[in-house]
Amino acid sequence: MANRYCSLVLVNSTKKRFMSTSNLKTIITESKKEIPIVKGLPLVGTMFSILAAGGGRKLHEYIDKRHQKYGSVFREKLGSVDGIWISNPLDMKLLFAQEGKFPEHILPEAWLLYNDTYGQKRGLYFMNGKEWWKYRQIFNKVMLKDLNVNFIKSYKIVINDLLNEWELSNGQVIPNLIADLYRISISFMVAHLVGRVYDDCKNDLSNDVNCLAQCIQKVFQCTVKFTVIPAKTSKLLKLNIWNDFVIAVDNSIESANNLVSKLMSLNGDGLLNSVLNVHDIPIDMIKRLMIDFIIAAGDTTAYSTQWSLYTLGLHKSIQNNLRHSLLENDFLECDYLNNILKEVLRMYPLAPFITRIPPSDIYLTDHKIPANSLVIMSMFTSSRNGKYFNSPNEFIPDRWNRLKSNKYNGVNEPFATLPYGFGARSCIGQKMAHIQMCLTLSECIKRYNLHTMQPVEIALDLITVPDDQINIKIHKL
Ligand code: HEM
Repeated sequence: MANRYCSLVLVNSTKKRFMSTSNLKTIITESKKEIPIVKGLPLVGTMFSILAAGGGRKLHEYIDKRHQKYGSVFREKLGSVDGIWISNPLDMKLLFAQEGKFPEHILPEAWLLYNDTYGQKRGLYFMNGKEWWKYRQIFNKVMLKDLNVNFIKSYKIVINDLLNEWELSNGQVIPNLIADLYRISISFMVAHLVGRVYDDCKNDLSNDVNCLAQCIQKVFQCTVKFTVIPAKTSKLLKLNIWNDFVIAVDNSIESANNLVSKLMSLNGDGLLNSVLNVHDIPIDMIKRLMIDFIIAAGDTTAYSTQWSLYTLGLHKSIQNNLRHSLLENDFLECDYLNNILKEVLRMYPLAPFITRIPPSDIYLTDHKIPANSLVIMSMFTSSRNGKYFNSPNEFIPDRWNRLKSNKYNGVNEPFATLPYGFGARSCIGQKMAHIQMCLTLSECIKRYNLHTMQPVEIALDLITVPDDQINIKIHKL
């Protein structure tokens, strides 16, 4: 299984390794260099340069060029975001080791504004401090450490239902790929929450799931528009993009709330049951947390799965090798499938930037960063860097094979790709997302030949998405 699962264990050892007194002393005395600053205008910083370079949708390329010019650490104010950008995996390790007991990240401005305006309280991703840690510990146990596998049978029902629907498109391009993937991401989450009763209740829930999938997709499409006009300005000017966003978020929360209420009444044997029965969490807090799990699962797993199918559809021989490998291995024990997913998430990191706001001064290899600065890890840059990955722009799953020396075949620094983040605040859904994607890819590849019609480029709509629609033709085997 992916070694990311060990992240919680690893962060402790990383902390020990990097924070021993002698190590820290060396780092503190060596952290002397000035951080290069990219000069901009007083209020907007260098916002016009990014607009000239293609806007927020090309931010990953813009920041990549900045790293080439200014090095692995620089400071730049882009609109309201004044950040220190880092791209060296060693600095990332040091940052995680000094992130504090209750690590903080930045949240999308539009979401915070919505929560403030309407008094909306949200789940783990939005929590901080002791409240966050209290619930994070509970869910670490049930979602990472002791993940119950009651849900796998129900996951299989979810994927089978989708692949049966796809039979109607045999020999053609799958008509609503991303919408279908949103729908199954939410269905997987529902299956996870209720466990084995999923099969009995799936028909009754299908309207709720479809409605929520559409709402979440709409929220995502609305949020993306704030990369051009910030949410605060849009709200102040009463622009349609703010009004549309509010309606979309209202609908998604209401729809998720209805769905979670129904799931709670089912008395299944999934995650919901283990949390309801074991922990003394108030019902409205359980709802708040579950609603956010469902919303968080929507676009993340949908887009990562889409990138995986897209890449397999471009590489016929890798697709054939995978089919062959799945004849001999169960989907959860198939190293080749594991390597494919690692490679997809390296090339298409869903979160191209990961942020932290350290509570005290921190020390990187050459630089000191003052407390409360916004530090932004440039994951797109580090995961496409030839220093860390041989032929970084090529899709080579075999680079993740271990050599006799235990090193990887074509990976010089695995820490340069962190698809689920790292440490105490890393993705709580990583284990389930991994299993869902393994299952989806393996069932799909066993049933269909995939053919990607045309290549696309990466664009950023907050997360890493294709710049054009992905068209995949399927042929039943
Ligand atoms: C391939 C799919 C996924 C990817 C690539 C992904 C990636 C990430 C990343 C990069 C973070 C931020 C980590 C940080 O700030 O260091 C995160 C946080 C989070 N993810 Fe995921 N995620 C995925 C699927 C899911 C799923 C299925 C769930 C459903 C439970 C989920 C729930 C969350 C939550 C609740 C957080 C916030 C955790 C916290 O603040 O403690 N994610 N994810």
